[in-house]
Amino acid sequence: MKMEVAPPKVLKQPLVIPQRVLMGPGPSNVHPRVLHAMSHNVLGHMNQETFQIMDEIKEGIRYLFQTKNDLTLATSATGHSGMEAILCNLIEPGDKVLVAVNGLWGTRAADMAERYGGVVTEMTVKLGKNFTFDVIESFLSKVRPKLLFIVQGETSTGVFQPIEGLGKICHRYDCLLAVDLVATVGGVPFFMDKWEVDAAYTAVQKILSVPTGLAIMSFSPKAQKVIFDRKIPPKVFFWDMRILGQQWKCYDKPRIYHHTVSSSLLSALRESLAMLAEEGLENVIKRHEICYERLAKGLQDLGLKFFVEEEKDRLITVTSLIVRDEFDHKEFLDFCMKKYSLEIGTGLLGQTGGGKLLRVGLMGYNATLETVEFTLKVMKEAKDHAETKSSSKL
Ligand code: GLV
Repeated sequence: MKMEVAPPKVLKQPLVIPQRVLMGPGPSNVHPRVLHAMSHNVLGHMNQETFQIMDEIKEGIRYLFQTKNDLTLATSATGHSGMEAILCNLIEPGDKVLVAVNGLWGTRAADMAERYGGVVTEMTVKLGKNFTFDVIESFLSKVRPKLLFIVQGETSTGVFQPIEGLGKICHRYDCLLAVDLVATVGGVPFFMDKWEVDAAYTAVQKILSVPTGLAIMSFSPKAQKVIFDRKIPPKVFFWDMRILGQQWKCYDKPRIYHHTVSSSLLSALRESLAMLAEEGLENVIKRHEICYERLAKGLQDLGLKFFVEEEKDRLITVTSLIVRDEFDHKEFLDFCMKKYSLEIGTGLLGQTGGGKLLRVGLMGYNATLETVEFTLKVMKEAKDHAETKSSSKL
């Protein structure tokens, strides 16, 4: 048989993956124990051993989110799918949705909520700021939404949003609270049940240091009831928690097949959650805090400028720095990557007042003082290099 398309020459070259230190907003480096767990045998998605891993993962997510919610599981797609799944399940056409927009992720959630038929009100604030509860409450009382969506750590700007106390306010207005924890949970405190959060999700490739490909999420009993009381099914089969939750045995019903989950990714996630349980969530959070203190002091000593003016509003897991005409930020980033294989993130938004953002992640496996010292050393050299280049152009 003669094939019409020849085997690609590029695929006959060996695959070479460089060793990098990933200090951008994610992914972070994968822990060696997690990498090892991924090399275990592949299991069938309906095998008993896979079900046991899924059950153990649910326990790990409950610990991470500090919740007892039954509807707690993972979706087979990036962290982004958490946003899709939550909005798709909780919104029916015509529902009023309030979205807090102070960066890319709020903007995207508002877009998605509309696609699922929501009548969206965007609550905005200047980039680099977060939302006060007074402002949120005034929107809740005027809009009377079914759902408020808010991001705990807006990675596009490096802003931290306090959540504690917000659930109670939302519930006074009969509104569900959904929170994006993609760059926060495990690095900063989060108490899903105590703070009365109805839906929350995170990605696995950031603080959990697992390769991207799963999102983990949880729904309160109230949110679960909303999903089961829907007048029409969720618009996307793949995100339908009524079916997916049954595959994950979140209900008192027999397991059913929804899709073929990757047992390798499940093994990786289970290993990461096992490490979290071994170290203790409070110690993991403390480790992030200690590393951030050192990082922030080092960045300040380097004369770099924080984009988020108020110290208390800064997200400790992703620090954003603003570079105006001090040096060429691209020259800086290229130096880090080419000379030291160090990835620092760049901005995602155009509206940062004429400057360019550098985003330094501090998550999971990379949250160690050794990695912070290395990052600061490289950033100092990169800044000197970029400044010299800029001045030689004048
Ligand atoms: C991803 O979360 C990013 O902020 O780049």
